[in-house]
Amino acid sequence: SSAQATDLMIKAGTVLDVTTGDLLNNKTLLIEDGRIQSIIDTDNATLPAADQVLDLSDYTLLPGLMDMHVHLTSDANKHGYKRLADSLPRKALTGAMNARTTLQAGFTSVRNVGAPGYSDVALRDAIRDGEISGPRIFAAGIPLGVTGGHCDNNLLPYSYKDKSPAVADGPWAAREKVRMNIKYGADVIKICATGGVLSKGTKVGAQQYSLEEMKAIADEAKLRGVVTAAHAHGTSGIKDAIRAGIDSIEHASLLDDEAIELALKHGTYFSMDIFTTEYILSAGKEAGILEESLNKERKVGKTQRESFRRAVEAGVKMVFGSDAGVYPHGMNGQQFSRMVKFGMSPLQAIQAATINAATLLNQNQHLGSIDAGKWADIVAVKGNPLEKIQLLESIPVVIKDGHIVKQPAE
Ligand code: ARG
Repeated sequence: SSAQATDLMIKAGTVLDVTTGDLLNNKTLLIEDGRIQSIIDTDNATLPAADQVLDLSDYTLLPGLMDMHVHLTSDANKHGYKRLADSLPRKALTGAMNARTTLQAGFTSVRNVGAPGYSDVALRDAIRDGEISGPRIFAAGIPLGVTGGHCDNNLLPYSYKDKSPAVADGPWAAREKVRMNIKYGADVIKICATGGVLSKGTKVGAQQYSLEEMKAIADEAKLRGVVTAAHAHGTSGIKDAIRAGIDSIEHASLLDDEAIELALKHGTYFSMDIFTTEYILSAGKEAGILEESLNKERKVGKTQRESFRRAVEAGVKMVFGSDAGVYPHGMNGQQFSRMVKFGMSPLQAIQAATINAATLLNQNQHLGSIDAGKWADIVAVKGNPLEKIQLLESIPVVIKDGHIVKQPAE
């Protein structure tokens, strides 16, 4: 860029202030070195020179969307035993494709909560270095879990000796796996506190990590300054994860009043994937999801949506988490309308995917709103998403780091 001119000038029709819900007109954004340098009035007589001008005067601008629960290296068409056939390098390549799709859908940041062989770390770094296109990734590496738990590999019989390399039983073993993940580049620590839907032989409601183990994990992560996320469907596992000081509860399906009170008291975030159930029950069988998992989903999906409504009503802090990878990447935005259907205002749903997510990640100085000083991660839609949340299902304009990655044809 030339010395005087700003890199990119965006003339906005409307800017959504996600903190207040205000729709601001007559704004122009000046982007420098990937960040929003300033926001000025468009009718200001002294608009500076710009290397590039983007006219979005027919659009509403929002901060880039942030999904706190994805698995980029997972192929939604290959579940169960079908998933065993892909090599680790193949999964990384699948991840590269899914990263591009995710960014094109308007998700400029994602938290990848589990990937084999640190493929998510490799993806993160390749994107950061400009080798491939994709969102900013906050990577968990290999998720921690107990022997035979939701985060272990349970499909093969004993003779294959297959075991996830991040299985850890006991507080010190678990601390070591936290350290291992950080050593190999993880930004966040993901654990499995209870059984799950898609893992063979686990009970959704049953707790797996004990309070003692989760305390050790949360403490170790805090020492190292990394955020923690716990997969937890079952009530006792949710509660002990909160008591242990885990930062976000993933799924949070089987809530009771005490679980909600604990979340409020500890300031814990819930990341509830309430769209996934529709895909699992309609397309899951074809994709290879085991019959036992389909049965578990039939029990948990509806309850999770009721729990979502209760948590929203009680005022629990919520982030947007989709579990894309269970269903096809790029469809992440379909969850917004379900979040509204089950109790959120459109603004709350947008906040979950922007400012709340940025705050959970301790990144709110850099991400989560359209403000001077933050990364220029911006999406734009034609119309008002506070009136029509479905606009976020197909996003025509995506800007990341001040680079236009998607724009409407002239
Ligand atoms: N990965 C999660 C699990 O296997 C998916 C749960 C999806 N179902 C749901 N109702 N949210 O447990």
